[in-house]
Amino acid sequence: MYVDVAADGDLAEGGMVAVKAEGEEVLLCRYEGKVFAVSRRCGHEGAALNIGALGGHIVVCPLHYAQFDIITGEALLGPADKSYGTDAKSPRGKTLDTKDLKTYDVKVKNGRIFVDPFSKISP
Ligand code: FES
Repeated sequence: MYVDVAADGDLAEGGMVAVKAEGEEVLLCRYEGKVFAVSRRCGHEGAALNIGALGGHIVVCPLHYAQFDIITGEALLGPADKSYGTDAKSPRGKTLDTKDLKTYDVKVKNGRIFVDPFSKISP
């Protein structure tokens, strides 16, 4: 069941918009003209990803800088550790201390963006 969550014109290329669909906190992102929908909450400690940064198809968490692919929801880089990656046991780039993001089915029709909150794929 798709839910109308936003106007297509409210989501610029390279932009992000946080919406709710049936209680699910969803982050809409536009990359190369397409709309993608993932969980708004970071897989590490739940920071709001809409106040992070989107570069291409990668969203960076504003809190500890974990990185996620908005197309697949995959965690690409774990959160920064206190050693800033200089410790040999650092998880940076090796052990991903975060969950992947849920992804949702999304479609655009008649100038509106629709998300199916029940389509979430939990990695
Ligand atoms: S809450 Fe996102 S990296 Fe820690």
